[in-house]
Amino acid sequence: MSYVSELSQRFEAAAGVDPELRPATKPQFGHFQTSVALRLAKSEGKPPREVAQRIIDTVDVADLCEPLELAGPGFINIRLTEKAIADGVSAVLADPRHGVPEAAEPQRVVIDYSAPNVAKSMHVGHLRSTIIGDAFNRILTALGHTVIPQNHIGDWGTQFGQLVEQILEEGIDAGELTLAEADALYKRASAHFKADEEFATRARKRVVALQAGDEQTLQIWRQLMAVSKDSFNEAYERLGVKLVDEDLAGESTYNDDLPVVVAELEQSGAAVVDDGALCIFNEGFNAPLIIRKSDGGYGYATTDLAAVRRRVGPLHANRLIYVTDVRQAGHFAQVFAAARKADYLPESVQAQHVGYGMVLGPDGRPYKTREGKALPLTALLDSAEEQVARPIALAAIKYADLSNGINKDYVFDLVRMVATTGDTGPYLQYAHARICQVLRKAEAEQIHVGDKVLELPEPAEQALALLITRFGEVVSEVADTLQPHRLCGYLYELAGAVARFYEACPVIKSEGLVRESRLALCVAARDALAEGLDMLGIEAPDRM
Ligand code: ARG
Repeated sequence: MSYVSELSQRFEAAAGVDPELRPATKPQFGHFQTSVALRLAKSEGKPPREVAQRIIDTVDVADLCEPLELAGPGFINIRLTEKAIADGVSAVLADPRHGVPEAAEPQRVVIDYSAPNVAKSMHVGHLRSTIIGDAFNRILTALGHTVIPQNHIGDWGTQFGQLVEQILEEGIDAGELTLAEADALYKRASAHFKADEEFATRARKRVVALQAGDEQTLQIWRQLMAVSKDSFNEAYERLGVKLVDEDLAGESTYNDDLPVVVAELEQSGAAVVDDGALCIFNEGFNAPLIIRKSDGGYGYATTDLAAVRRRVGPLHANRLIYVTDVRQAGHFAQVFAAARKADYLPESVQAQHVGYGMVLGPDGRPYKTREGKALPLTALLDSAEEQVARPIALAAIKYADLSNGINKDYVFDLVRMVATTGDTGPYLQYAHARICQVLRKAEAEQIHVGDKVLELPEPAEQALALLITRFGEVVSEVADTLQPHRLCGYLYELAGAVARFYEACPVIKSEGLVRESRLALCVAARDALAEGLDMLGIEAPDRM
C-alpha cells in the first residue's frame, strides 16, 4: 500500500472522516497536508486548532512520521521519516512485481474490443477500440486476472447478401480480393442495393441462402472472411496489440444459439410479442429491445444477448467489458438490462460499456479523407510513421488515445503527439531512455542495496520516492475505474519528478550510500516507467 493510502486510513481512524490528504504545497510543510480539522470544527462547533490538536494527539502514525505539525488556522502538516520513505522504495525494489498487487480474488474478465467489420477497412474508431481494449487486457492481466479477449467482428448480416450478389454479378474471384478492393465492392453493392429493386430482391434471397448454408454462398463468404482476417491481423501486428485468431468470436459464432435464445426468452416470459416482433421491454428505456423482427430476422442486439449468455455460461466470466464508440452506450445499457431480466447476467457479474469519443481532424471535425470517407487505419499509421520511427509513432498515437479521458473526442495532431516535450508518449519513452543511459554510465544495471537503508535527504528525491511507491495503487485504480488516463497522468508526473530529481541531485558524481541510493531510485523509476508504458501497450526502448 502507498503512504497516501496508509496515512489516509490512519487519519480516518482518528478523525472519523476521510482526511482528504493533499501533497504539501512546499517542502517546508512536509509531504502531505490535511484540512480535516477545519471541516470537523464546523460540525462540532469547536475551534479548528483544538480539533486539529486532538487529531494529532490520537492519530497513530509515529512509526512512519516525524512529529505532526499544527499550522495556521488548523492545518496538519505531515512529514514522513526518511527511513519510512527509504523502506517504501526498498520494498518496491525487492518486489519482482514492482509494487503491482496480485488481485486477492482473480477474475475471469471478457473484454470485447476491436471488432472491425468483414469486407470493410478498419477505421480510426476501430483503432481506438483496439488500443483501449489492449491496455485493459494488459492492466488486468498484470493484476493477476484472466483476460478473455473477444473480437466480436461483424461477419454476418444482410450486407453479405449484397456483397455475394455483387461478386457474382461482376464475376469477381473473391479469393483474390484485397481488403481495399472488398471495401470498394461493399460500397458498390450497397449503392446497387438502394438503386435497383431487382438486385435488392436477389440480395435478400442471398441472405436466406447464406443462413440456410448454401455451399456456393458460404464459399464466397469464407473467402471474404479470409481476406479480412489477414488484413486485421496485419494491423494488429503493426500496432503491437495482443489480439490473435483464437480471440475471434464474430457475430456468426452465435448463429446456432439464436433460436435457442429466442426459445428461452419466450419460455421465461422475459420477451413478449409486440406488433409481430419479439421484444424485451426494459424499465427506463423508451423503446423495447427487438429480439426477432416481424419478418423473422435477428439483429445486432440478439447476437449480443447470445454473446452475454456464452460469456457468462461456458466462458465463466465474472466481469464483462465492452469497448466501442460512445454512440453505442444506449445499445449496451439495453442489452445488459435485458440480459439481467433473462437471467443470462446474474448480479454477481459486472457488465460495463466503455464508450470512446471521436478522433477529430486538425479542423476539429471527425477525421475524414479528402473524399469525405472515414480515414482508414493504415493511412493514419502511415502518416505517423512518416514523421518518426515506428515505436515512437505508436507511442504517440496510443498515448494520445489513452491520456485524455476515453469518452472525450480528441484532435489527431501529429506534430503535438510526436513531440518529445509535453504530455506525450515519446516524452515518456525519452524519460525512460534517459534513466537507462544514466544507469549505463554508472554501470549500475544491477543495484544491490541489500539490507542497507537508503539515504534520501533531498526533497526532490523524496518526492520521486513517494511517487514510486504509488505505482501499484494507480494500476489497481485503473483496473477498477477503467480510466487509463490516470495511469498516463501518473507516468507523466513520475517523468517530471525524475527530471526535478536530476536537477537537484547529482547521481553519477555523488558518492557512497548517497550514490547507491540515487541509483536505486533510478532503477525503481525506470521499472515503473517501463512497466507502466507496457501496460498501455507502449514500448520503452533503452536508447533513443
Ligand atoms: N462491429 C461493431 C462496429 O464496428 C462493433 C461491435 C462491438 N461489440 C459488440 N459486442 N457489439 O461498430
